[in-house]
Amino acid sequence: MTAALPRLDETALATLFTGARTANSFSSTPVTDAELASIWDLAKWPPTAANTQPLRVVFVRTEEGRARLLSHMGEGNVAKTETAPVTAILAVDTQFQKHIPTLLPFRPELKDALDGNAELHDSITSFNGPLQAGYFLLAARAVGLATGPMAGFDKDTLDADFFPDGAWKSILVVNIGHPGENPWFDRLPRLNSDNTLDWA
Ligand SMILES: Cc1cc2nc3c(=O)[nH]c(=O)nc-3n(C[C@H](O)[C@H](O)[C@H](O)COP(=O)(O)O)c2cc1C
Repeated sequence: MTAALPRLDETALATLFTGARTANSFSSTPVTDAELASIWDLAKWPPTAANTQPLRVVFVRTEEGRARLLSHMGEGNVAKTETAPVTAILAVDTQFQKHIPTLLPFRPELKDALDGNAELHDSITSFNGPLQAGYFLLAARAVGLATGPMAGFDKDTLDADFFPDGAWKSILVVNIGHPGENPWFDRLPRLNSDNTLDWA
């Protein structure tokens, strides 16, 4: 017996892709910790290499945490981050391999292999962390939240502040909430299939 997979309807496709936008300002509508946890409950499911799941998330939503975070944001990202009720720091856990005996029970020896192979370790981290960051953005959209991803921040000072033991390394900062005043920039064009697809 083969499984027939369902297709999302147009509303769901617009929520995730065609109608979803990057928010540049946020309303004062709060976002609950339960809503934030529900992002992860979706984002944890899509695949990673050898099921390694290196992404970690810090949800910054206290005044004290926000003040610390703002001091690391690039100049153009400060005002929008000030308006967001929550900002997530997405990071990779450089010790992700310690979970391998649980996450990949049929091949626990991969943990020791990664402990002794920095090149393989780093290639898994650098590919799968950003891959999970993409899943995270789509999961936030799926639970009705707007996101504003930002690479413009001082990684070194942020990591020293939030991750002083050096195990987690930031890769992206994401504002999360509900759209505020004039939240969207003009929609930029996307490459079409003529530029991006080839057929063999
Ligand atoms: C990895 C990444 C880094 C980004 N960094 C910034 C940033 O530092 N500041 C900013 O204002 N927007 C940043 N953006 C937002 C993009 O410019 C925006 O998502 C893109 O233009 C698409 O906008 P749209 O979703 O409204 O079509 C970033 C987006 C991504 C995915």
